[in-house]
Amino acid sequence: MKNSSTCFAFVLAFLCFNNALANKDCLKLDFSVTQDIQGYGFHRVAKWLIEASLNKEQWVKSLCEIIFHLNLPPPLFVNPDEVADLKRLNKLDVVIDGAVDIEVPAHKATEHNVYVFFNNSQIEKLPLSLPIHLRYQRAQITGGFAKVSFPKPSLLTWCPKSQHKICGKEVKAPVLHMTSTKIWYNISYKALFDDIELYVPVGDLDHYPIVAISTLLLGCAGCIYILSILSTTHL
Ligand SMILES: *[C@@H]1O[C@H](CO)[C@@H](O)[C@H](O)[C@H]1NC(C)=O
Ligand SMILES: *[C@@H]1O[C@H](CO)[C@@H](O)[C@H](O)[C@H]1NC(C)=O
Repeated sequence: MKNSSTCFAFVLAFLCFNNALANKDCLKLDFSVTQDIQGYGFHRVAKWLIEASLNKEQWVKSLCEIIFHLNLPPPLFVNPDEVADLKRLNKLDVVIDGAVDIEVPAHKATEHNVYVFFNNSQIEKLPLSLPIHLRYQRAQITGGFAKVSFPKPSLLTWCPKSQHKICGKEVKAPVLHMTSTKIWYNISYKALFDDIELYVPVGDLDHYPIVAISTLLLGCAGCIYILSILSTTHL
């Protein structure tokens, strides 16, 4: 019994040591990100500034590429038409992974992934601006506002000609202009922002009868008014 636990501890120590070696070997990229969500209501503009302090020559020589990844939960979406426009105007290279139905409310929607590809020769300072929309929320008895937490973006990189492995967890992500995916490295960055929560107005079920009745009354008043004009002009 004692023997086997010693052996176990030894194996564990060996594994840790091995891991430490592998981690020390990898190349840690130094990125920082600021994030700001502008606007109110259902239509916002998300802005990021991604900054890197690294050896640019090394970066270019290693043929490194970087993509920005955002996993949008059901209450949030990017509009594929808007993204296509940005693409057409050569402003952004964006790939959306997942179906986006811009009509459905939050409780009927699904999540989707957004990937933005950058021009890797301008790596030091990458500004990014993306229109983000909030979905209507299911009406509640009390109305008011629903809280939606904005997801934290990921930075994925790939350096095919680098002599060192890049530190970061392997993840599958798309390749630009291709329908395939490949392995990217999810790198850590310094987040120069706090978690953001967005407030979105919720329909109030209590108001429904009032809204319905007042719409009906207004409609009636309109009809009576038009009828009265018609009848006076005919006389
Ligand atoms: C990337 O940036 C460089 C330098 O500004 C520019 O010459 C090149 O055309 C850009 N490439 C793309 C694909 O936008
Ligand atoms: C990348 O790593 C961060 C931190 O571990 C994690 O929160 C995020 O979900 C990862 N992104 C992807 C695309 O796997």
